[in-house]
Amino acid sequence: MVSMIWYSIFDRCRRGSTVEQQFCKLWVGGSTPLVGSCSCGGNGIHHGLRNHGPRGLEGSIPSSCIGGNMIFLTGDTHSEVERLSSKNFPDGKILNRSDYVIVLGDFALVWDKVQSEREKYWISWLDNKPWTTLFLDGNHENFERLDQLPTKEMFGGEVGVLANNIYHLKRGDIYLLEGKKFFTFGGGQSIDKHLRIENISWWARELPNYAEYHKGLESLEKVSWNIDYVLTHDAPRSIYKAMAEKYFFHKTGEYDLPKFLEEVKNKAQYRHWYFAHFHYNDTFEQKFTCLYENVVMLDPGI
Ligand SMILES: [Fe+2]
Repeated sequence: MVSMIWYSIFDRCRRGSTVEQQFCKLWVGGSTPLVGSCSCGGNGIHHGLRNHGPRGLEGSIPSSCIGGNMIFLTGDTHSEVERLSSKNFPDGKILNRSDYVIVLGDFALVWDKVQSEREKYWISWLDNKPWTTLFLDGNHENFERLDQLPTKEMFGGEVGVLANNIYHLKRGDIYLLEGKKFFTFGGGQSIDKHLRIENISWWARELPNYAEYHKGLESLEKVSWNIDYVLTHDAPRSIYKAMAEKYFFHKTGEYDLPKFLEEVKNKAQYRHWYFAHFHYNDTFEQKFTCLYENVVMLDPGI
């Protein structure tokens, strides 16, 4: 019975490859998770199906798996992308160019005044991974350089091209990935900006301008505020408040970006919202997931 369920789930995935069959065999062989103990606290998000036999056995198939390819998300990398190494992210080994890993801002591999050898090395390291990397901007990016990246039309919107397989998702666009609509809106406020130097380690462009807010609203209007996922670096104001209460910090989100995101939170229809910035892995109000170092599969079973 168990084996039938698992084989039928994986039959409906695109792969059916040897690797996938190995996953099935591992699951069928027992209830032990493939990747050991999970840090999701039982919410079913971390690494998706492969760590969550019971969820899978109930018959839920991640939407990111249906019809095709996989989408993973992670929080701030601050230029340190080793969490995506084969050792730290074993799921990455079976991905291909049609699978995506999305960094939710503070990517920071565009940081130095001019591209340094360190940046070149890590960009090339990431570019050579088998998947396609997408990133939002956060507050810690060199916006002078980021804004100068060549652009192209991709996924139904405009992306910045950092490398052959690494693209910047812009503020206010709606991208189509795996048939799902993703509204993306990067940016955030640096609480330590008084310790930073303008245009060396801090850029005013960390916060969106009027044109970007306008573009965001226009994009949402075009789809009647119906999207599948929201990806941001910063959070809506009410989520700020919930986080401040839980983690005892004093950020209040009293500036335009969290207020704008609050409007999106209240007005748009969406399945799930992922953000980063706060350096926590946690979920609020069931559908607002904050990510930091965890690498999670898009909404398995949510
Ligand atoms: Fe950060």
